Amino acid sequence: MAIPKKVEEAINKQINAELYSAYLYLSMQAYFDSINLAGFANWMRIQAMEEFSHADKFYHHLAERGGRAVMEAIEKPETEWKSPLAAFESVYEHEQKVTALINEIADIADKEKDRASLGMLQWFIDEQVEEEASADSLVQKLKLAKDTPGAIFMIDKELAARVFAPPAKE
Ligand code: FEO
Repeated sequence: MAIPKKVEEAINKQINAELYSAYLYLSMQAYFDSINLAGFANWMRIQAMEEFSHADKFYHHLAERGGRAVMEAIEKPETEWKSPLAAFESVYEHEQKVTALINEIADIADKEKDRASLGMLQWFIDEQVEEEASADSLVQKLKLAKDTPGAIFMIDKELAARVFAPPAKE
């Protein structure tokens, strides 16, 4: 079954939202590099790569289903945060918004009886549980660290170890 128009439109908006997410995290990477926290910057770089891979996953779903991805302008992200904690609070907030967007697309696919899209969206629904949990756990860690340089450097070392793992093909 070709992808329903309404689902195609919603996925196109989501491709833009995922690319915006990548852009936002690249902006956070640049913020962390500017304050010499290379581990935090690495975490953001990997996060941006993951977001691009999410856009790519949606892109291929459209292409496989007779739809077409349309690239729109990407909004300018923030460029400064007042602390590592403030940046991660923004990550957590942002990921909650993304979860709501994914749920909305699932509602549209459900209405349109588009089971293939629902199957693909289940991967994103599960992914968002992880995305929110990892952002929240870093917010909690940074709250405990209370901007103490020693604790921030320890977290920085931990975040330096993050590597990119591309999403598995369905
Ligand atoms: Fe693509 Fe962070 O969700």
